[in-house]
Amino acid sequence: MKHDIQVSQAKRLFELMDRRTTDLAPSVMTQPVADYVCHDLAACERAVLFRRLALLIALGCELPRPGDYLCDDFSGMPIVVRRCEDGSVAAWRNVCSHRGARLLNGRGSSPERLTCPYHAWTYAADSGRLLAVPFERGFEEIDTGCLGLVPLPVREIHGLIFAVPEPGVELDADRFLEEVGDDLAQFGLEGYHHFETRVLEQPLNWKLVVDTFLETYHLGTLHRSTIAPILHSNLSTFTPMGRHLRMIAARRSIEQLRTQPECEWDLVRHSAMVYVIFPNTVFIMQGDHLETWRVYPGASPDASRMHVSLYTPEPACSESAVRHWRKNLDLLMATVLEEDFPLAADMQRDFSVRNDHLLFGRNEPALQHFHRMLHDALRNSIGERDDRGREE
Ligand code: FES
Ligand SMILES: [Fe+2]
Repeated sequence: MKHDIQVSQAKRLFELMDRRTTDLAPSVMTQPVADYVCHDLAACERAVLFRRLALLIALGCELPRPGDYLCDDFSGMPIVVRRCEDGSVAAWRNVCSHRGARLLNGRGSSPERLTCPYHAWTYAADSGRLLAVPFERGFEEIDTGCLGLVPLPVREIHGLIFAVPEPGVELDADRFLEEVGDDLAQFGLEGYHHFETRVLEQPLNWKLVVDTFLETYHLGTLHRSTIAPILHSNLSTFTPMGRHLRMIAARRSIEQLRTQPECEWDLVRHSAMVYVIFPNTVFIMQGDHLETWRVYPGASPDASRMHVSLYTPEPACSESAVRHWRKNLDLLMATVLEEDFPLAADMQRDFSVRNDHLLFGRNEPALQHFHRMLHDALRNSIGERDDRGREE
């Protein structure tokens, strides 16, 4: 985030703090409970949000050398992203053109030729071209020149790698990040290092997982002894950024800025900068490190899977650095797994027997924006199916 914006956001936080308020939406919004349990909506979300939009797959630092690859099937589509010899990234459907075996698994470094583990069809790793078919006579009436790997739209921008699970979708690097791209560009993510990724499965709709991060209203109650001593409760700025959004929560240490000259203000250190990179990534600059939550639907509307990753500005080379960051990640996990998610799992269970609405208050503008943007993105697929988003 540019320094002038850090200064204006810090001033806004002080103003809100002094007036004992937070950034407010114009009105309360209602949200149908059905949106968290509806199978039809879940199918629409999969088809639109998780097939045709750019999804964050990794930070560029996770593929540092040519040949490095990682596989991802959380969207439901098996994807492999690989660093090419020229330093660019390529993404393919991780599916052999013969009978559909996966070519690669997990993470690693691949040779220049990818050989399918099933019948040894072999592809060029950079171009995806099919190079060799053992016993070619068995396929002689087929044009094997058209049987390369299916390329997927992929972009590396500001140190982040995005891919679209469906082939043929246009991915305009300058446009899909909208205003959030300006902030991301300033974080220097190209120089970050991957510390660890943990995978969680929870009995929660994927949106309920994202909702957890989009207000500071609950910090003083649910997290009174864990997060509330560090972050102010019910105090945050909110900025819509096209479909994406930014919410900045103030650390209690922000008071230190009041006595420093503005030119030295570093709001990153004294806040938690929460972004939703639409549709499913919660990106949090946490003072001295980055957390990303890539949240996906599970097998049913009441299940989700997520990648939780921690990235650091310096590599964790020493044992004490590893201990420090692991403790950080353990604490984060303990907070969500012991405080947020058990409560949300009860909510999710109750949603299945309810047929009414939730309320997103004026003090929860990020929640309102996230759900409005989802509704807009799905509007063409689902039509005006109910009165969601109605203002009270
Ligand atoms: S499925 Fe890959 S070679 Fe047969
Ligand atoms: Fe929480």
